[in-house]
Amino acid sequence: VLDEVCETTGVTLKRYMNEVAILNPEMTELVTLFGAIDTACKAISNLVKRSQLPSSETLGYQGEINVQGEDQKKLDVITNDLLKRALRFTGRIGVLASEEEDVPVDLVNTEKEAVYTETDKYVCVFDPLDGSSNVDAGIPTGTIIGIYEHDENCSIDEECVGVDCSAAELKCLTNTLQPGTNLVAAAYCLYSSSTFLVLTLGAGTYGFTLDENLGEFVLSHPDMKIPETSSIISFNEANTHMWDEPLQEVVGKWKTGKGKSGKSFSSRYIGSMVGDVHRTLLYGGVFGYPGDTKNPNGKLRLLYEGAPMSFIMEQAGGASTTGTQRVMEITPEFVHQRVPIIMGSKNDIEEVIEAYKAAG
Ligand code: AHG
Ligand code: MN
Ligand code: MN
Ligand code: MN
Repeated sequence: VLDEVCETTGVTLKRYMNEVAILNPEMTELVTLFGAIDTACKAISNLVKRSQLPSSETLGYQGEINVQGEDQKKLDVITNDLLKRALRFTGRIGVLASEEEDVPVDLVNTEKEAVYTETDKYVCVFDPLDGSSNVDAGIPTGTIIGIYEHDENCSIDEECVGVDCSAAELKCLTNTLQPGTNLVAAAYCLYSSSTFLVLTLGAGTYGFTLDENLGEFVLSHPDMKIPETSSIISFNEANTHMWDEPLQEVVGKWKTGKGKSGKSFSSRYIGSMVGDVHRTLLYGGVFGYPGDTKNPNGKLRLLYEGAPMSFIMEQAGGASTTGTQRVMEITPEFVHQRVPIIMGSKNDIEEVIEAYKAAG
């Protein structure tokens, strides 16, 4: 009977995570975390889809500038609160960091409504609504989540809550400054023609599609592998004249069929990292937000955009570089640090790295 049930309902995210936990007992807590992520992403998908209706008041601007200096959308705030709450009530997160929070939020040592915290084992970082400038036009947006383990040799003195901490304790409290290589799991949810949840636990990249009739994410893209070479570039080409020379050179060659693969590239860019990276994973391509003379570190944030998306990309056989460094190896100095990112089909990324090396 079970097989018949699975045949009709498919392998749901819940079943997938249960099987992972049975095979990897040390990952048992992740079942609870992904249960919260599953529910939160369905709720955000609902909010985004219904935001266009006359009755909804969730489009437009919040009227605040966030720590990034961006004009916050109402949905940036709503989705941030939703995700924070969903993660807090798992009782398994010690600290979380978000694009929409000035500083990391300590979920354990907090006077706010006492929350039963089973363990502060996990640290969660997230971009609650990626590509939010697109949301009023109904263009795809996403959510990006990274999960780290708390650095055990971080000792936080009980009365240390935020302000009266030593530098070391504060670093511990904001135990979010870890390199992507420390990630235990990463996931994104794409709100598009379908709602896709793509994740990695370090053993491949797996894609699930929300079956609205079931209300469950169902495994639809097992063990995703990005094509090794491609013919799609995905950049904001209004900045081309300000890019690093080596990147201008390689992209120029690709456009005229003079790159290593000899292919002539086309361009696809929607201005939502999650949407652009999802297409890149499935069709192949090179997505990037490189450094330029105006913003030497580019625009994308390392902690909750660059590292988790690079983990997902690498686990699908792709690569992710700043041009000179593997993005996952960079340890953030501060929470909202930006990083140049060029990621996608392995052979094409290799070509970019070689161009940077040749430029010395
Ligand atoms: P966010 O909406 O979370 O602030 O992220 C927007 C990012 C990313 O999604 C996208 O790739 C990039 O901004 C687009 O930037 P431009 O509009 O400058 O091309
Ligand atoms: Mn933003
Ligand atoms: Mn983003
Ligand atoms: Mn965002």
